[in-house]
Amino acid sequence: MAGYEGKHFKHKLTLILEGVAILCYAINQSPANLIEIVSKFYTKDKQPEDRPSSPLRDEPLNVSVQLLDQENSTCPELEEYSIKTIDDGMSVMAITPYGQIIGVCLNGITRKKDSEELDIHNASEDSCHNKKFCKIIKFLQHIERESNIFAKYTEINKILCVKILSVDCSWRGRGIAKELMDKTREIARREGFGLVRADCTSYYSAKALAKLGFECVYTLQYCDYKEDDEIVFKPDPPHNEIKIYVQEI
Ligand SMILES: CC(C)(COP(=O)(O)OP(=O)(O)OC[C@H]1O[C@@H](n2cnc3c(N)ncnc32)[C@H](O)[C@@H]1OP(=O)(O)O)[C@@H](O)C(=O)NCCC(=O)NCCS
Repeated sequence: MAGYEGKHFKHKLTLILEGVAILCYAINQSPANLIEIVSKFYTKDKQPEDRPSSPLRDEPLNVSVQLLDQENSTCPELEEYSIKTIDDGMSVMAITPYGQIIGVCLNGITRKKDSEELDIHNASEDSCHNKKFCKIIKFLQHIERESNIFAKYTEINKILCVKILSVDCSWRGRGIAKELMDKTREIARREGFGLVRADCTSYYSAKALAKLGFECVYTLQYCDYKEDDEIVFKPDPPHNEIKIYVQEI
């Protein structure tokens, strides 16, 4: 199949979702140029003008801070965050038999010994020049501290964390996210992770995780997260809260 030469996906090719591919084949649709969008989005060598609109434009926090508000908006910090995650070699993508990428689940490794440092980089106002992205990172750090997952699972030394989950909009509501998560769980089992974790900013990703039997261990309503007495994120309903879901493997 064409289009898999991208160096960041080279380890992931063996993880192609057979089940999803069959499902997509049965549905028999072909989202135009999707493989280009995803491969360009996750390739750091591309010039900004070559990058198409991001598949993460409608993630609730991104929408709320208008991170990628224009058709051709980009966020190099988000791309760097995504690429860093892909480099862990645990990510999966859903593709059709025609080679179209219709969903990605970017999974990163979090080890207990690193957890105090937080693997989220570019966190401080000084080091992150993109103020919108910085708001999101600060929020993720806040819930990391508040949820304190390693303290709840003292026997567990490494967690497979879902950092980015995205399905092309023309394929949503057909179980692709659930398939990606199921495959992620399989990888976690094979690679000896004690726990899979996903911080669900979207009502729909939370629903997918709950359906797969994940346990919700932390919830924060967006209206309860404030800076200088101002609510920071106001996504449209039904995205009212962030939920952390985990499953022991
Ligand atoms: C969140 C997202 C990945 C879900 O992908 P998906 O493939 O549509 O998810 P699934 O088909 O597995 O659906 C999960 C559940 O949400 C429901 N759902 C998904 N999209 C829906 C929609 N637009 N309206 C109503 N229900 C929806 C599904 O019906 C399913 O519920 P069910 O099991 O009760 O039927 C996708 O909406 C997306 O990419 N959103 C933008 C990026 C984002 O928000 N990522 C998540 C950040 S944590």
